[in-house]
Amino acid sequence: MRFNFLSIALLTGLATIVSAQGNFCDEASRFGNLNVSPSTLSPGQTFTVTANLTCAIQLDNTPTFLDYYIDATATHTVTGPILIARRTYDNTTSPPIDQFTAVLPNWFYFTDASYSLMMDNSFARPGPTGQSVITVGGISAGINITGF
Ligand SMILES: *[C@@H]1O[C@H](CO)[C@@H](O)[C@H](O)[C@H]1NC(C)=O
Ligand SMILES: *[C@@H]1O[C@H](CO)[C@@H](O)[C@H](O)[C@H]1NC(C)=O
Ligand SMILES: *[C@@H]1O[C@H](CO)[C@@H](O)[C@H](O)[C@H]1NC(C)=O
Repeated sequence: MRFNFLSIALLTGLATIVSAQGNFCDEASRFGNLNVSPSTLSPGQTFTVTANLTCAIQLDNTPTFLDYYIDATATHTVTGPILIARRTYDNTTSPPIDQFTAVLPNWFYFTDASYSLMMDNSFARPGPTGQSVITVGGISAGINITGF
């Protein structure tokens, strides 16, 4: 009996820990979470961007503006990043998701470059005098660009 009671108490404790982890926002999510669908794109193709701002807001990085870019890295010089969307965030949005569709512009892409969609989250913070200052943090999601 005593053993059973302890087991139940232990299981209840574990269930609490597991459900608490469901709401846990890790450091990587501090400016939001970003998803691009589909993630392999050709110029002219429409894609959906979904930014989940739950963790950004929870960690006090509530967006004022959200800027979205396509960026590239390569062993040679690449021109860019290219701006995809500049959006003003309304903090009454529920659930706190910024979702929109965009079209991949025709641009100078390279087969040997690695591409990502970047989101810059501009959020207000009190400065040393208490006056609000907007600072920026970013997150990126990998994409493939083909067919150019
Ligand atoms: C947004 O992120 C939060 C925290 O990770 C998660 O609980 C929630 O399910 C996500 N919402 C959507 C629509 O993906
Ligand atoms: C944004 O909304 C959340 C509640 O949804 C609130 O906790 C937070 O303080 C708000 N942030 C700002 C900057 O208004
Ligand atoms: C990009 O393409 C590679 C090779 O096909 C694939 O393994 C990878 O998952 C793709 N990445 C994305 C973000 O779609």
